Amino acid sequence: MTEIVREGYDAIADTFEAWRDLISEDPRDEWRDELVARLPDGARILELGCGAGHEAGELAKRFEVTGVDISAEQLRRAGEAVPEATFLQADFTELELPAGSFDAVASFYAFNHVPRERLEPLYRRIHEWLVPGGLLLTALGISDTAAWTGEWLGTTMFFSSFPPETNSLQLRRAGFRLLREAVVAIREPEGPAQFQWVLAAST
Ligand SMILES: C[S@@+](CC[C@H](N)C(=O)[O-])C[C@H]1O[C@@H](n2cnc3c(N)ncnc32)[C@H](O)[C@@H]1O
Repeated sequence: MTEIVREGYDAIADTFEAWRDLISEDPRDEWRDELVARLPDGARILELGCGAGHEAGELAKRFEVTGVDISAEQLRRAGEAVPEATFLQADFTELELPAGSFDAVASFYAFNHVPRERLEPLYRRIHEWLVPGGLLLTALGISDTAAWTGEWLGTTMFFSSFPPETNSLQLRRAGFRLLREAVVAIREPEGPAQFQWVLAAST
């Protein structure tokens, strides 16, 4: 599955960028503001599935940012756009990082590409990478989709997700306290799409 995602995002870099620009009613700024308001200048933020670095660019204005993505082309773009951040090409479900090495982890619209049986283990890894009380901000898929592979934006892509109540339960089981969560619809070029936004603290 990871291969499909990597090859897909390498292949559609320009198409994805143009499609992304057409999305409206995206609440990401509001949720990012809520995260950053809780962090001191210079905090260490890990961004998973950073794509071409749009969020990393915002976050790097005040924080020390490490971005991770599986797609070499997305990372090439991120590195060019945000030279002050550190970028790693890796599958974040297999990434090894020192325990307690980040104050916050953020991931925007990336975990819905992860086979869903790997989500809870991923939350546990994130919990390990965070300092106690560290923050997690993410936008999760909400459909009950075990695994979907098909045509998306002119490439083959993989999607997988749990309903919101399962997402919340798994996050709690992984050691997070949910500070705020909401299902929010964005307007993609094809129509509305809902995601569960979560801001959580590690306990
Ligand atoms: C929908 S894009 C979102 C990009 C960016 N976060 C944004 O909001 O514009 C999903 C990104 O997650 C990356 N991704 C998906 N699964 C991944 C994995 N297992 N490891 C690393 N990156 C992954 C993809 O390569 C892609 O760049």
